[in-house]
Amino acid sequence: MHVFITGASSGIGRALAQRYASQGATLGLVARREESLNQLASGLPGQHHVYALDVRDRPALHAAAQDFIAAANGRVDVVVANAGISQGTLTDQPEDFAAFQAIFDTNVLAMVATFEPFVAPMRAVGQGALVGIASVAGIRGLPGAAGYCASKAAAISYCESLRNELAGDGIRVVSLLPGYIRTPMTDGNPFPMPFLMSPHRFARKAVNAIAAGRRQAVIPWQMAIAARLLRIVPVPLFDLFARRAPRKPRGAPTDGLP
Ligand SMILES: NC(=O)c1ccc[n+]([C@@H]2O[C@H](COP(=O)([O-])OP(=O)(O)OC[C@H]3O[C@@H](n4cnc5c(N)ncnc54)[C@H](OP(=O)(O)O)[C@@H]3O)[C@@H](O)[C@H]2O)c1
Repeated sequence: MHVFITGASSGIGRALAQRYASQGATLGLVARREESLNQLASGLPGQHHVYALDVRDRPALHAAAQDFIAAANGRVDVVVANAGISQGTLTDQPEDFAAFQAIFDTNVLAMVATFEPFVAPMRAVGQGALVGIASVAGIRGLPGAAGYCASKAAAISYCESLRNELAGDGIRVVSLLPGYIRTPMTDGNPFPMPFLMSPHRFARKAVNAIAAGRRQAVIPWQMAIAARLLRIVPVPLFDLFARRAPRKPRGAPTDGLP
Protein backbone atom coordinates (compact mmCIF):
# COMPACT_ATOMS: atom_id res chain seq x y z
CA MET A 1 0.00 0.00 0.00
CA HIS A 2 1.31 3.48 -0.91
CA VAL A 3 0.04 6.59 0.91
CA PHE A 4 1.03 10.21 0.27
CA ILE A 5 0.36 12.63 3.18
CA THR A 6 0.86 16.39 3.32
CA GLY A 7 1.33 18.09 6.68
CA ALA A 8 2.98 14.94 8.04
CA SER A 9 5.41 16.72 10.37
CA SER A 10 2.87 17.36 13.12
CA GLY A 11 -0.55 16.64 14.62
CA ILE A 12 -3.10 14.83 12.50
CA GLY A 13 -0.78 14.19 9.53
CA ARG A 14 1.88 12.69 11.76
CA ALA A 15 -0.66 10.43 13.47
CA LEU A 16 -2.08 9.32 10.10
CA ALA A 17 1.46 8.49 8.96
CA GLN A 18 2.05 6.38 12.07
CA ARG A 19 -1.27 4.59 11.61
CA TYR A 20 -0.71 3.77 7.94
CA ALA A 21 2.91 2.70 8.58
CA SER A 22 1.69 0.34 11.31
CA GLN A 23 -0.48 -1.29 8.62
CA GLY A 24 2.58 -1.83 6.42
CA ALA A 25 2.15 1.15 4.07
CA THR A 26 5.01 2.88 2.26
CA LEU A 27 4.60 6.62 2.78
CA GLY A 28 5.32 9.86 0.98
CA LEU A 29 5.70 12.42 3.76
CA VAL A 30 5.33 16.12 2.92
CA ALA A 31 5.86 19.24 5.07
CA ARG A 32 8.34 22.12 5.34
CA ARG A 33 10.15 20.92 8.49
CA GLU A 34 12.58 18.37 7.09
CA GLU A 35 14.02 17.42 10.47
CA SER A 36 10.59 16.52 11.86
CA LEU A 37 9.84 14.43 8.77
CA ASN A 38 13.19 12.60 8.96
CA GLN A 39 12.72 11.97 12.65
CA LEU A 40 9.20 10.63 11.97
CA ALA A 41 10.32 8.45 9.05
CA SER A 42 13.24 6.94 10.97
CA GLY A 43 10.93 5.89 13.81
CA LEU A 44 8.40 4.16 11.53
CA PRO A 45 8.47 0.56 10.36
CA GLY A 46 9.42 0.33 6.65
CA GLN A 47 11.15 2.65 4.20
CA HIS A 48 9.51 5.99 3.42
CA HIS A 49 9.99 9.01 1.16
CA VAL A 50 10.51 12.44 2.71
CA TYR A 51 9.66 15.57 0.70
CA ALA A 52 10.52 18.78 2.51
CA LEU A 53 8.60 21.48 0.66
CA ASP A 54 5.96 24.16 0.93
CA VAL A 55 2.63 22.89 -0.43
CA ARG A 56 2.05 26.36 -1.91
CA ASP A 57 4.96 25.63 -4.26
CA ARG A 58 2.98 23.72 -6.90
CA PRO A 59 5.95 22.65 -9.09
CA ALA A 60 7.80 21.29 -6.03
CA LEU A 61 4.68 19.46 -4.86
CA HIS A 62 4.16 17.96 -8.32
CA ALA A 63 7.79 16.86 -8.54
CA ALA A 64 7.42 15.08 -5.18
CA ALA A 65 4.17 13.46 -6.33
CA GLN A 66 5.79 12.22 -9.57
CA ASP A 67 8.72 10.77 -7.62
CA PHE A 68 6.33 8.95 -5.28
CA ILE A 69 4.13 7.70 -8.16
CA ALA A 70 7.24 6.28 -9.85
CA ALA A 71 8.35 4.62 -6.58
CA ALA A 72 4.85 3.07 -6.31
CA ASN A 73 4.96 1.81 -9.93
CA GLY A 74 1.95 4.01 -10.63
CA ARG A 75 -0.24 2.52 -7.92
CA VAL A 76 -0.76 5.07 -5.16
CA ASP A 77 -3.63 3.96 -2.93
CA VAL A 78 -4.36 6.99 -0.76
CA VAL A 79 -3.47 10.69 -0.98
CA VAL A 80 -4.27 12.81 2.07
CA ALA A 81 -4.29 16.59 1.58
CA ASN A 82 -3.96 17.48 5.24
CA ALA A 83 -1.51 20.41 5.40
CA GLY A 84 -3.34 23.39 6.83
CA ILE A 85 -3.08 26.55 8.85
CA SER A 86 -5.51 28.38 11.07
CA GLN A 87 -5.63 31.89 12.43
CA GLY A 88 -8.19 34.43 13.51
CA THR A 89 -8.86 37.01 10.77
CA LEU A 90 -10.84 40.25 10.69
CA THR A 91 -11.96 41.86 7.45
CA ASP A 92 -11.72 45.40 8.86
CA GLN A 93 -8.03 44.92 9.64
CA PRO A 94 -6.16 45.49 6.36
CA GLU A 95 -3.08 43.63 7.61
CA ASP A 96 -5.21 40.46 7.93
CA PHE A 97 -5.58 40.20 4.15
CA ALA A 98 -2.20 38.43 4.01
CA ALA A 99 -3.51 35.87 6.51
CA PHE A 100 -6.67 35.32 4.41
CA GLN A 101 -4.41 34.73 1.41
CA ALA A 102 -2.06 32.31 3.23
CA ILE A 103 -5.02 30.36 4.62
CA PHE A 104 -6.68 30.01 1.21
CA ASP A 105 -3.40 29.16 -0.54
CA THR A 106 -2.61 26.44 2.01
CA ASN A 107 -6.03 25.02 2.88
CA VAL A 108 -7.72 25.19 -0.53
CA LEU A 109 -5.41 25.72 -3.51
CA ALA A 110 -2.71 23.41 -2.14
CA MET A 111 -5.38 20.71 -1.77
CA VAL A 112 -6.10 21.03 -5.50
CA ALA A 113 -2.37 21.00 -6.28
CA THR A 114 -1.90 17.91 -4.06
CA PHE A 115 -4.59 15.89 -5.85
CA GLU A 116 -3.86 17.04 -9.43
CA PRO A 117 -0.88 14.77 -10.26
CA PHE A 118 -2.55 11.64 -8.84
CA VAL A 119 -5.76 11.72 -10.89
CA ALA A 120 -4.31 10.38 -14.16
CA PRO A 121 -2.33 7.48 -12.60
CA MET A 122 -5.27 6.52 -10.36
CA ARG A 123 -7.60 6.62 -13.36
CA ALA A 124 -5.18 4.43 -15.30
CA VAL A 125 -5.30 1.69 -12.67
CA GLY A 126 -8.98 2.31 -11.80
CA GLN A 127 -8.42 2.71 -8.08
CA GLY A 128 -7.30 5.14 -5.38
CA ALA A 129 -8.63 7.51 -2.74
CA LEU A 130 -8.13 11.27 -2.58
CA VAL A 131 -8.76 12.45 0.97
CA GLY A 132 -9.26 16.11 1.90
CA ILE A 133 -8.96 17.18 5.51
CA ALA A 134 -11.62 19.85 5.96
CA SER A 135 -13.19 20.76 9.32
CA VAL A 136 -16.45 21.07 11.22
CA ALA A 137 -15.56 24.79 11.07
CA GLY A 138 -16.45 24.66 7.37
CA ILE A 139 -20.12 23.95 8.04
CA ARG A 140 -21.12 27.43 9.27
CA GLY A 141 -19.22 30.72 9.45
CA LEU A 142 -17.94 31.70 12.87
CA PRO A 143 -17.05 35.28 13.83
CA GLY A 144 -13.32 36.01 14.01
CA ALA A 145 -12.48 32.97 11.87
CA ALA A 146 -13.80 34.05 8.47
CA GLY A 147 -10.62 33.02 6.66
CA TYR A 148 -10.44 29.57 8.22
CA CYS A 149 -14.17 28.79 8.07
CA ALA A 150 -14.44 29.95 4.45
CA SER A 151 -11.37 27.91 3.48
CA LYS A 152 -12.80 24.76 5.05
CA ALA A 153 -16.23 25.36 3.47
CA ALA A 154 -14.38 25.63 0.15
CA ALA A 155 -12.51 22.39 0.87
CA ILE A 156 -15.80 20.56 1.60
CA SER A 157 -17.44 21.82 -1.61
CA TYR A 158 -14.30 21.20 -3.65
CA CYS A 159 -14.12 17.55 -2.52
CA GLU A 160 -17.82 17.10 -3.27
CA SER A 161 -17.40 18.46 -6.80
CA LEU A 162 -14.33 16.33 -7.40
CA ARG A 163 -16.01 13.18 -6.07
CA ASN A 164 -18.74 13.50 -8.65
CA GLU A 165 -16.37 14.53 -11.44
CA LEU A 166 -14.37 11.35 -10.87
CA ALA A 167 -17.34 9.05 -10.31
CA GLY A 168 -16.95 6.09 -12.66
CA ASP A 169 -13.14 6.33 -12.79
CA GLY A 170 -12.64 4.10 -9.76
CA ILE A 171 -11.26 7.04 -7.76
CA ARG A 172 -12.89 7.77 -4.43
CA VAL A 173 -12.88 11.28 -2.99
CA VAL A 174 -13.32 11.47 0.77
CA SER A 175 -13.75 14.57 2.91
CA LEU A 176 -12.94 14.25 6.58
CA LEU A 177 -14.26 16.87 8.98
CA PRO A 178 -12.39 16.74 12.29
CA GLY A 179 -13.92 18.29 15.38
CA TYR A 180 -11.42 19.44 18.02
CA ILE A 181 -8.23 17.38 17.86
CA ARG A 182 -5.36 17.92 20.31
CA THR A 183 -2.50 19.21 18.11
CA PRO A 184 -0.25 22.29 18.00
CA MET A 185 -3.06 23.98 16.04
CA THR A 186 -5.45 23.82 18.99
CA ASP A 187 -2.94 23.80 21.87
CA GLY A 188 -3.30 27.53 22.42
CA ASN A 189 -7.09 27.76 22.05
CA PRO A 190 -8.26 29.96 24.94
CA PHE A 191 -11.73 28.40 25.10
CA PRO A 192 -13.17 25.00 26.07
CA MET A 193 -13.06 22.45 23.24
CA PRO A 194 -15.92 19.95 23.48
CA PHE A 195 -15.16 16.31 22.68
CA LEU A 196 -11.43 17.04 22.27
CA MET A 197 -9.80 13.93 20.78
CA SER A 198 -6.18 12.75 20.59
CA PRO A 199 -4.64 12.74 17.09
CA HIS A 200 -3.98 8.99 17.38
CA ARG A 201 -7.61 8.21 18.10
CA PHE A 202 -8.60 10.51 15.25
CA ALA A 203 -6.15 8.77 12.90
CA ARG A 204 -7.49 5.32 13.76
CA LYS A 205 -11.06 6.41 13.05
CA ALA A 206 -10.05 8.32 9.91
CA VAL A 207 -8.13 5.38 8.42
CA ASN A 208 -11.09 3.09 9.16
CA ALA A 209 -13.53 5.56 7.56
CA ILE A 210 -11.37 5.77 4.41
CA ALA A 211 -11.03 1.96 4.23
CA ALA A 212 -14.79 1.54 4.78
CA GLY A 213 -15.54 3.63 1.68
CA ARG A 214 -17.04 6.63 3.49
CA ARG A 215 -17.50 9.70 1.27
CA GLN A 216 -17.62 12.16 4.13
CA ALA A 217 -17.02 11.60 7.84
CA VAL A 218 -17.20 13.91 10.83
CA ILE A 219 -14.92 12.69 13.65
CA PRO A 220 -15.62 12.32 16.57
CA TRP A 221 -19.21 11.06 16.37
CA GLN A 222 -20.45 13.61 18.91
CA MET A 223 -19.33 16.32 16.50
CA ALA A 224 -21.15 14.51 13.70
CA ILE A 225 -24.38 15.07 15.61
CA ALA A 226 -23.44 18.71 16.20
CA ALA A 227 -22.66 19.03 12.48
CA ARG A 228 -26.07 17.67 11.51
CA LEU A 229 -27.77 20.18 13.79
CA LEU A 230 -25.57 23.02 12.56
CA ARG A 231 -26.56 22.24 8.96
CA ILE A 232 -30.29 22.60 9.64
CA VAL A 233 -30.34 25.53 12.08
CA PRO A 234 -32.05 28.49 10.33
CA VAL A 235 -29.85 31.54 9.71
CA PRO A 236 -31.51 33.90 12.25
CA LEU A 237 -31.23 31.29 15.02
CA PHE A 238 -27.62 30.49 14.08
CA ASP A 239 -26.73 34.18 14.16
CA LEU A 240 -28.18 34.54 17.65
CA PHE A 241 -25.67 32.03 19.04
CA ALA A 242 -22.78 32.64 16.65
CA ARG A 243 -22.24 36.25 17.62
CA ARG A 244 -21.52 35.10 21.19
CA ALA A 245 -19.18 32.27 20.11
CA PRO A 246 -15.59 32.36 21.42
CA ARG A 247 -13.16 33.76 18.87
CA LYS A 248 -9.85 32.56 17.54
CA PRO A 249 -7.02 34.93 18.46
CA ARG A 250 -5.64 37.13 15.68
CA GLY A 251 -1.92 37.74 15.61
CA ALA A 252 1.00 37.32 13.27
CA PRO A 253 0.20 34.93 10.41
CA THR A 254 2.11 32.12 12.08
CA ASP A 255 1.36 28.67 10.77
CA GLY A 256 -0.09 26.40 13.38
CA LEU A 257 -1.80 29.13 15.36
CA PRO A 258 -5.26 28.17 16.64
N1 LIG B 1 -6.58 20.16 15.26
C1 LIG B 1 -7.88 20.33 15.02
O1 LIG B 1 -8.71 20.44 15.96
C2 LIG B 1 -8.40 20.39 13.61
C3 LIG B 1 -9.79 20.45 13.44
C4 LIG B 1 -10.30 20.50 12.16
C5 LIG B 1 -9.45 20.44 11.07
N2 LIG B 1 -8.11 20.38 11.26
C6 LIG B 1 -7.26 20.35 10.06
O2 LIG B 1 -6.37 19.25 10.14
C7 LIG B 1 -5.19 19.55 9.38
C8 LIG B 1 -3.96 19.28 10.23
O3 LIG B 1 -3.97 20.17 11.33
P1 LIG B 1 -3.29 19.83 12.73
O4 LIG B 1 -4.29 20.08 13.76
O5 LIG B 1 -2.61 18.53 12.66
O6 LIG B 1 -2.26 21.06 12.81
P2 LIG B 1 -0.69 21.12 12.98
O7 LIG B 1 -0.24 20.20 14.05
O8 LIG B 1 -0.38 22.57 13.08
O9 LIG B 1 -0.14 20.54 11.60
C9 LIG B 1 -0.23 21.24 10.39
C10 LIG B 1 0.62 20.51 9.37
O10 LIG B 1 0.50 21.21 8.12
C11 LIG B 1 1.79 21.46 7.63
N3 LIG B 1 1.80 22.67 6.83
C12 LIG B 1 1.23 23.87 7.12
N4 LIG B 1 1.50 24.76 6.15
C13 LIG B 1 2.25 24.10 5.23
C14 LIG B 1 2.86 24.48 4.02
N5 LIG B 1 2.72 25.73 3.53
N6 LIG B 1 3.56 23.56 3.33
C15 LIG B 1 3.71 22.30 3.81
N7 LIG B 1 3.15 21.89 4.94
C16 LIG B 1 2.44 22.77 5.66
C17 LIG B 1 2.68 21.58 8.86
O11 LIG B 1 4.03 21.25 8.55
P3 LIG B 1 5.26 22.28 8.47
O12 LIG B 1 4.98 23.40 9.44
O13 LIG B 1 6.44 21.43 8.82
O14 LIG B 1 5.28 22.73 7.06
C18 LIG B 1 2.09 20.51 9.75
O15 LIG B 1 2.65 19.27 9.43
C19 LIG B 1 -5.33 21.02 8.94
O16 LIG B 1 -5.81 21.07 7.62
C20 LIG B 1 -6.36 21.56 9.90
O17 LIG B 1 -7.05 22.67 9.38
C21 LIG B 1 -7.56 20.35 12.50
